[in-house]
Amino acid sequence: MGRFDGKVALLTGAASGIGRATALRLAADGANIAGFDRDGEGLASLADEVATAGGAMTTTVGDVSVRESCLAAVEEAVEAHGRLDVLANIAGVCWSEQIADTTEESWNRMIGINVSGVFWCCQAAIPHLIATNGNIVNIASNAGLMGQAYTVAYSTTKGAVVNMTRSLAMEFMKEPIRINAVAPGSVDTSMTRNYTLPENLDFSLMQPYIGFRDMADADELANVIAFVASDEASRIHGAIIPVDGGVTAG
Ligand SMILES: NC(=O)c1ccc[n+]([C@@H]2O[C@H](COP(=O)([O-])OP(=O)(O)OC[C@H]3O[C@@H](n4cnc5c(N)ncnc54)[C@H](O)[C@@H]3O)[C@@H](O)[C@H]2O)c1
Repeated sequence: MGRFDGKVALLTGAASGIGRATALRLAADGANIAGFDRDGEGLASLADEVATAGGAMTTTVGDVSVRESCLAAVEEAVEAHGRLDVLANIAGVCWSEQIADTTEESWNRMIGINVSGVFWCCQAAIPHLIATNGNIVNIASNAGLMGQAYTVAYSTTKGAVVNMTRSLAMEFMKEPIRINAVAPGSVDTSMTRNYTLPENLDFSLMQPYIGFRDMADADELANVIAFVASDEASRIHGAIIPVDGGVTAG
């Protein structure tokens, strides 16, 4: 028996990195997977991998910053699999820039994907999750728990995810649903591998959030996300769980 036998999990950002690792973890534990990502090729190759391992996965290609796409992804997941037990909001983007170089377009794009996308998926999924005694796991960041130089827009969005999670947890306190967030530190994914820094940085200002330990593997995050989404975490509601190798300890 797997922890997620008979359950259905919808994951945004499933095509890559933490989302991909989490989809494989949940599928290995018995979940049927619905993946939602703007990267259709990545989703298709993940669906093949899940199927080869004996699991089931459907895909929706779309942009989480578009409300209609989020509603469609939730409806397609429920239609295809008959129910929804877990929503993991993992899709996200991160870039570093100087304040003076931040454009209106770049600011709005960051908010649209990292904040609005999480909200629209929660809004669409909550009625289905209440029906199954299900739960939401949002992916925040250590950047949402501390101030970070040169990633002001990103930190703003992740701070919003932290308080969106807590506020949703309060609003649905009397309903059969759990709502939590996991806050990773640096993880070895395409996000960090393709990361670029602006010029003229004062690196000493970055030391507090770089930390002292190596980057995590995506599987280490997947393990925690799967635990929080599982019945083993039945008492955890409204929590922000750091998985950052101690970055936010100091
Ligand atoms: N990698 C890290 O160091 C780190 C640290 C803290 C938090 N996080 C958070 O973890 C989450 C996953 O990041 P990752 O490291 O796996 O990155 P990743 O780039 O490997 O994966 C992100 C996924 O999100 C998808 N995506 C991006 N914009 C989208 C959009 N508009 N619509 C639909 N899908 C979209 C991408 O296609 C990709 O599949 C993000 O929310 C990120 O902010 C990552």
